[in-house]
Amino acid sequence: MRIYLDHNATTPVHPEVASAMQEMLRENWGNPSSTTAEGAQARRAVDRAREQVAALVGADADEIVFTGSATEANNTALHSVARASDRTRFLSSTIEHPSVDEPLAFLGEQGSQVIQIGVDETGRLDLTSLRLQVDDRTALVAVILANNEIGVVQDIPTLAEIVHRIGAHLHVDATQALGKIPVDVATLGADTLVGSAHKFNGPKGAGFLWARKGVLLTPWIRGGPQEKRRRGGTENTSGIVGLGQAAELARVDLPVRATDSARLRDRLWEGILEGVPGVRRNGSEEHVLPNTLNVEFEGAAGELLLQVLDGEGIAVSAGAACASGSIEPSHVLSAIGRNPEQARGSLRFSTGLRNDEAQIDRVLGLLPGLVARAREVAA
Ligand SMILES: Cc1ncc(COP(=O)(O)O)c(C=O)c1O
Repeated sequence: MRIYLDHNATTPVHPEVASAMQEMLRENWGNPSSTTAEGAQARRAVDRAREQVAALVGADADEIVFTGSATEANNTALHSVARASDRTRFLSSTIEHPSVDEPLAFLGEQGSQVIQIGVDETGRLDLTSLRLQVDDRTALVAVILANNEIGVVQDIPTLAEIVHRIGAHLHVDATQALGKIPVDVATLGADTLVGSAHKFNGPKGAGFLWARKGVLLTPWIRGGPQEKRRRGGTENTSGIVGLGQAAELARVDLPVRATDSARLRDRLWEGILEGVPGVRRNGSEEHVLPNTLNVEFEGAAGELLLQVLDGEGIAVSAGAACASGSIEPSHVLSAIGRNPEQARGSLRFSTGLRNDEAQIDRVLGLLPGLVARAREVAA
């Protein structure tokens, strides 16, 4: 049995989600835009999913637009604000996901001013710097609610106050937060927010964009009246139903999921501290997702550690990736002040459904020996 500790990369599909999707594929295959009975039946399933997703984030259903991924939802949101605003300054943080960084870089190529605000060594956004940089030329501030690599959670309500004081738009990437911590659009004070089903036990290829009423959305994908002309293309109805079912389960089960994943994550960290010398945690220990643990194993070759763990049946992620033959440190670990060697020795463990104590103990049994080997290789 494999031990999957990589839930921030993707999650297994929940059996109830798979059943709902299968039923959709088998029995409810109509086109939601058709005026036939088949169309109406599919439309009802899509409408229900929209309610379920809206309930997860405390929104109204008509504020939810289904997309093919959080990447697409981020693109749509940033593109829409750029189109609607005559301001040309865009701010984000140094620890955003590429699906925010790259559309912003594209706006930069087209003449907008794009500025990344730094974070402190725990990964929290530098609010003093934000206050200095936000001005009346600022169209948008994009901030990741919970970071995918180190799990740091930002103080979005405080950010929202700063951003709105100057009349700018606050975009929040909540992809990693959903299903792990409570996410409520009103409490956060966001203007747009995105999520993705496959990060909370739903299917891949099903994301959503929430936009506060009054935010003008420009479709990123044109060519049809679907999603009230906010996203063209016949709906991925089974994916949408899977997203809806996953959202409902995530909302109802959230307290249990959060407690369980935190208990296992903490057991893992305490065990590592006890059994492996020369370790330190990357990112905030206080403002962090309940399931995420990013650890630097000083002087170890993380890429080797990852491979050997995989060979032992254990899935984790590395803090550095091999790009064009050289080891590229993660931009998130660089942003919190880790040098390339420290990033190379870092691994991310992310717990989730179906993990248990016995699995954590097996990992703890193996790690001291494997880390020692990965240190010899790096030396
Ligand atoms: C924070 C964050 N934003 C966006 C995405 C992109 O999500 P999707 O896979 O739905 O495009 C990810 C996925 O890794 C993520 O972690």
